[in-house]
Amino acid sequence: EKIVLAYSGGLDTSVILKWLKETYDAEIIAFTADIGQKDELDGLEEKALATGASKVYIDDLRAEFAQDFIFPMFQSGALYEGQYLLGTSIARPLIAKRMVEIARAEGATAIAHGATGKGNDQVRFELAAAALAPEIKVIAPWRIEEFRNQFPGRAEMIAYAEEHGIPVKASAAKPYSTDRNLLHISYESGVLEDPWFDPSAPENKDMYLLSVSPEDAPDQAEYIELEFEQGNCIALNGERLSPLQVMEKLNELGGKHGIGRVDMVENRFVGMKSRGVYETPGGTILFTAHRKMESLTMDREVMNLRDSLIARYSTLVYNGFWFAPERLALQALVTESQKNVTGTVRLKLYKGNIIGAGVKSPVSLYNPNIATMEADPTQAYDQGDATGFIHLNALRLKVSSGVEQSHK
Ligand code: ARG
Ligand code: SIN
Repeated sequence: EKIVLAYSGGLDTSVILKWLKETYDAEIIAFTADIGQKDELDGLEEKALATGASKVYIDDLRAEFAQDFIFPMFQSGALYEGQYLLGTSIARPLIAKRMVEIARAEGATAIAHGATGKGNDQVRFELAAAALAPEIKVIAPWRIEEFRNQFPGRAEMIAYAEEHGIPVKASAAKPYSTDRNLLHISYESGVLEDPWFDPSAPENKDMYLLSVSPEDAPDQAEYIELEFEQGNCIALNGERLSPLQVMEKLNELGGKHGIGRVDMVENRFVGMKSRGVYETPGGTILFTAHRKMESLTMDREVMNLRDSLIARYSTLVYNGFWFAPERLALQALVTESQKNVTGTVRLKLYKGNIIGAGVKSPVSLYNPNIATMEADPTQAYDQGDATGFIHLNALRLKVSSGVEQSHK
């Protein structure tokens, strides 16, 4: 039997690798998706082999992540519960997709992951896998009682690792858990479980990896220009870039200016509230720029319709329904809504802020002649028409007000 394990090289998935191998007497294929977690990938292959993997895949999925996942999601304006740019949520379906591809190519019967039984990630992995490869079994050790009994805490895992010659990092464990990729890094659990604990306080600033704090950002503002074509950013400061390059460059700029930190309590799909801290430097710039581009180029009712679907779209992504028919249907509408979202946005980055500094487009719907307070040379708008417009809109208000008065 072969099992494909989503492997990160951390203590949990290292122990799980060995445990699966022993428990199922199976060959374990370790799989790591490179989705931009940078130095977390160092030495991973050797480590997986040393831990007992029969084969290791470390696949660079960064370009696909940016182009086919991050960009389509950003066209929708997705923002979960008004704050979270879905950095972890959007990565899970891609990891699952590649995992089931490997499982099929290797003739594996199961895939396994190290997500806990209390979180969103298990749901996202497994719903994506179900949608793409329903024949493949999923093993989630954290939901198996014997596994939980054997490893009630970190101490037992470290002891098991030492016993089995699994290399464990000497560095002290961080007092919280992280998840990093091209779009963001998240921090959860441990000291962060107290929502009154302030990670932005100067004494805690070592936690943040992708950005300086706004207080430490440069005193000089920096201007940037993002060019959009049909809702996608295609160039930065006049240089044409791939989606991956856009994300990398924007992360650098956002990080430098202390942009994109979020500290929130969110509702997990599985029912509980959870405190999360995020750094999304590039994504935050992209999100803001995209909205400004839309303001100039998007039809009012198309925008209204798309906006009414943002919460739905965000929840679908958060809850793991990326490959579900309703997300694909929504995406078709979202992508259609972006047909005219083309042009250039200028922004000023300054100490955690993104300040609009101009917008232009060859297909702008904004017509200063129509909007002007001065005489309109085009005569497209007759102020006298507004009288009837207001009368008809006022009609039902007058009727209901009259009814209310007469029944007092
Ligand atoms: N709360 C965020 C989400 O549900 C981040 C999850 C982080 N996952 C992790 N394995 N540390 O999308
Ligand atoms: C986990 O439980 O594995 C991480 C947190 C989450 O998935 O929400």
